[in-house]
Amino acid sequence: MPVSPMVQFRTFVGGVVVIVSTLFPGADASFEQNCAQLSRTLSIENATVWFSEFVAAGTNLTFPDNNATCLRPNQVVSADLCRVALYVATSPRSGISMEAWLPRNWTGRFLSTGNGGISGCIQYEDMAYTAGLGFSTVGANNGHNGTGGHAFLYNPDVVADYGWRSIHTNTVVGKQITQAFYNQTYTKSYYLGCSTGGRQGFKSAQAFPDDFDGIVAGSPAIRFNYLDAWSGTFYPLIRDAGPAGFPPNTTWPAIDNSILNQCDMIDGAGDGIIEDPDLCIFRPEALICGSGVSPSNSSSCITSQQAATVRKLFSDVYGANGTFIYPHMQIGPGIIEPIYEAYSPGQFPYTADWFKYAVFNDPSYDTDALTPQDWAYAWDQNAGDTNTWQGDLSAFQNKGGKLITYHGQADPEVSSTISPLYYDHVSRAMNLPSTALDNFYRFFRISGMGHCGTGPGATFIGNTAAALASLDPSENVLTAMVRWIEEGVAPETITGTKFVNDTPALGVAFKRAHCRYPFRNVYVGGVGGDWKNARNWNCTQVV
Ligand SMILES: *[C@@H]1O[C@H](CO)[C@@H](O)[C@H](O)[C@H]1NC(C)=O
Ligand SMILES: *[C@@H]1O[C@H](CO)[C@@H](O)[C@H](O)[C@H]1NC(C)=O
Ligand SMILES: *[C@@H]1O[C@H](CO)[C@@H](O)[C@H](O)[C@H]1NC(C)=O
Ligand SMILES: *[C@@H]1O[C@H](CO)[C@@H](O)[C@H](O)[C@H]1NC(C)=O
Ligand SMILES: *[C@@H]1O[C@H](CO)[C@@H](O)[C@H](O)[C@H]1NC(C)=O
Ligand SMILES: *[C@@H]1O[C@H](CO)[C@@H](O)[C@H](O)[C@H]1NC(C)=O
Ligand SMILES: *[C@@H]1O[C@H](CO)[C@@H](O)[C@H](O)[C@H]1NC(C)=O
Ligand SMILES: *[C@@H]1O[C@H](CO)[C@@H](O)[C@H](O)[C@H]1NC(C)=O
Ligand SMILES: *[C@@H]1O[C@H](CO)[C@@H](O)[C@H](O)[C@H]1NC(C)=O
Ligand SMILES: *[C@@H]1O[C@H](CO)[C@@H](O)[C@H](O)[C@H]1NC(C)=O
Repeated sequence: MPVSPMVQFRTFVGGVVVIVSTLFPGADASFEQNCAQLSRTLSIENATVWFSEFVAAGTNLTFPDNNATCLRPNQVVSADLCRVALYVATSPRSGISMEAWLPRNWTGRFLSTGNGGISGCIQYEDMAYTAGLGFSTVGANNGHNGTGGHAFLYNPDVVADYGWRSIHTNTVVGKQITQAFYNQTYTKSYYLGCSTGGRQGFKSAQAFPDDFDGIVAGSPAIRFNYLDAWSGTFYPLIRDAGPAGFPPNTTWPAIDNSILNQCDMIDGAGDGIIEDPDLCIFRPEALICGSGVSPSNSSSCITSQQAATVRKLFSDVYGANGTFIYPHMQIGPGIIEPIYEAYSPGQFPYTADWFKYAVFNDPSYDTDALTPQDWAYAWDQNAGDTNTWQGDLSAFQNKGGKLITYHGQADPEVSSTISPLYYDHVSRAMNLPSTALDNFYRFFRISGMGHCGTGPGATFIGNTAAALASLDPSENVLTAMVRWIEEGVAPETITGTKFVNDTPALGVAFKRAHCRYPFRNVYVGGVGGDWKNARNWNCTQVV
């Protein structure tokens, strides 16, 4: 197939993106034709290619067949690309729906995107982001359609697709498609994902070290079966507390203020953002109403029973015989509300579906009342090899792989307390101090960031198109990874941006350089200094 597209190589010089284009003869004219032919000429084992079509930059693609629960009915594509859609059988009774988006302005790089929750949904917005940056990009449906877990029922192969096989397969197949279309081998291979996508990135580093050179894995849903167990503790806790036992929403601002009064200055700045929630030992008892004040008529204090509930929300979870299950929800302002919203209406849907359909194969299983025995069963069973807790990353390290992980320090879904726990687990398992882990594994704590994005902190770090402030590698986790792999320059910090009202058009509110673990961010601007000035912060080694 006579493919000779324009190939671009982006290099990063002095933090500035420089584009070097190499134009191969006959480039642009044949791109559309080659794309149209691709579906007929591709030959991939176990695959059925549905179509290949040229998509012009600016096109608003619609996905009428996509499951409605994915909430992704359309996507604007920012670059000329060749779109390929196919089904790949991964076993006789399961398979993945996947797409490859092959940009005209190819940089030579390959990238796989990840998924979220227990879906079931190609993240088209991530494909558009990275294809627009010149990566030959793939995305898959993780082995089933939609955000629910029904497809797991009596089908361990669908569970295996979810646990590891979807990403591995779409990567192997995506590299074949890339080779076939461009008639050229990719230069470097990357991964970008968050939440379940973060777990998928760690799974690749643990079990498929050859799939990627650089992995960017955020807010990872690792220790997965125990994560689901932990998520499942909130609903019965809130339900059993009853309306009287959970602080009423009128008191939430007072709770936030109390958290800030107790912990905001630990990092030196009264900015409403807690840099290191691990250092915050919050006493909800400080909020207990004094005698003479009727709690039912006060928004500034709570009952002792409510204080006990708050304390439980922020406690580590242990199982039978003292088994450690999962670390506590990180403390911080603005977290009571999302906890209540996410966990009070009924059992957390991911927990309920995972235990019913993947763990117990019993749609009527009472997941409101999961027991420590259930948690232990799920962990030991490790359906789909989902636990994702292997501490030895030496195969990935030895082949030159690099891992960047980040975790918002105000994440109500995957508590950020899990990320230092895993980091220290790797440190022990590999017998490496952080100075040695720095050579291939860097973990950035993003203060004031919720689950994979948004929040009061400087949260725009380029992990998604929606959180893009800059392509400068010092401000973008993805281009930071490209620079690390291709130029050997590792990120010391990742500078995030906070825009006014989170709207770039309204200008920058402040920037902050987020430190890599185990460094922590400390304000050093002195009394009267400006915490919005990024230079007034310093990454300090924890002693
Ligand atoms: C593919 O590239 C090789 C050189 O790398 C070239 O010899 C060959 O003709 C190309 N094939 C097609 C179909 O363009
Ligand atoms: C894309 O098309 C859909 C309708 O098919 C429309 O609702 C949506 O607003 C469009 N998006 C953009 C950015 O134009
Ligand atoms: C998922 O939906 C696609 C259409 O978007 C369909 O081709 C595929 O068969 C579905 N897969 C499953 C497992 O239902
Ligand atoms: C390809 O890249 C060049 C250089 O960055 C840019 O000017 C052009 O708009 C891009 N074209 C497409 C279709 O993305
Ligand atoms: C194709 O499917 C068969 C049967 O499920 C499987 O054994 C084989 O490994 C698959 N091939 C690839 C390349 O995945
Ligand atoms: C769409 O997803 C939902 C939630 O997972 C599921 O219940 C439904 O069956 C799916 N619909 C189709 C057509 O696959
Ligand atoms: C607080 O909860 C009550 C119901 O208990 C609801 O009517 C009200 O809208 C809530 N207020 C806020 C600010 O969420
Ligand atoms: C609640 O407090 C307000 C003002 O402090 C007071 O006017 C009102 O009577 C109180 N209501 C009850 C039921 O105590
Ligand atoms: C707890 O210990 C008892 C006695 O050793 C044992 O029978 C039981 O299986 C353990 N439970 C779990 C969940 O490990
Ligand atoms: C910043 O942190 C480094 C490393 O911990 C330390 O050596 C240095 O003194 C700190 N600088 C300031 C201004 O506090």
